[in-house]
Amino acid sequence: MPREVGVGPFEGQWPSDPRLDPALLAGGDRRNVVDAYRYWRMDAIVEDLDTRRHPFHVAIENFSHDLNIGSVVRTANAFLASEVHIVGRRRWNRRGAMVTDRYQHVRHHEDAQALAAWSKDRGLPLLGIDNLPGSVPLETTDLPMACVLLFGQEGVGLSDDARDACSKVLSIAQYGSTRSINAGAAAAIAMHAWVRRHEFGQLP
Ligand SMILES: C[S@@+](CC[C@H](N)C(=O)[O-])C[C@H]1O[C@@H](n2cnc3c(N)ncnc32)[C@H](O)[C@@H]1O
Repeated sequence: MPREVGVGPFEGQWPSDPRLDPALLAGGDRRNVVDAYRYWRMDAIVEDLDTRRHPFHVAIENFSHDLNIGSVVRTANAFLASEVHIVGRRRWNRRGAMVTDRYQHVRHHEDAQALAAWSKDRGLPLLGIDNLPGSVPLETTDLPMACVLLFGQEGVGLSDDARDACSKVLSIAQYGSTRSINAGAAAAIAMHAWVRRHEFGQLP
């Protein structure tokens, strides 16, 4: 029998915690959530996450329903980004998100200029992540505590508009023959660089 994720119906006297969901207590909780949130209502989980989100934001361009977007959202959830910003089409491919988008604040922007204006209003530097000409190494850049990390899409990478809107573009070192890694992998590396810097105090 394959091992099941999560927990079955709650056994014993039900706890009275209002954050718990009676339907989950009765039927079991097989969701992809950390054990500390077992049986919690979804809105209670979001409320709790909101008390400790990190001040970095993640943005990704969406012009071609890139499958990577879901994976970027899932990683943004894991590293507890403030918000995820989708730039371009409103419809995006949720498959790789594995429902994590429901625990995340997702904001839409029509284009890169709109995202840049939103970031500027909040004093958040907009940093592109791409290995385009003119980019500087992520590995030797001191990532700001509060910022927006903007990723491009498979094939084209960051659009010209997006590149122009960013104060800096940061590249991830590569050594093989491929031109790039996929956007989902790049997003995970960049977010983890933020975590190393601001949760663990590791200077570049
Ligand atoms: C598949 S890449 C395509 C773009 C790439 N500039 C090219 O010439 O092939 C899609 C996205 O992944 C991210 N990415 C991939 N490799 C990267 C790298 N080495 N450094 C920084 N970002 C990267 C960027 O956000 C990029 O826009």
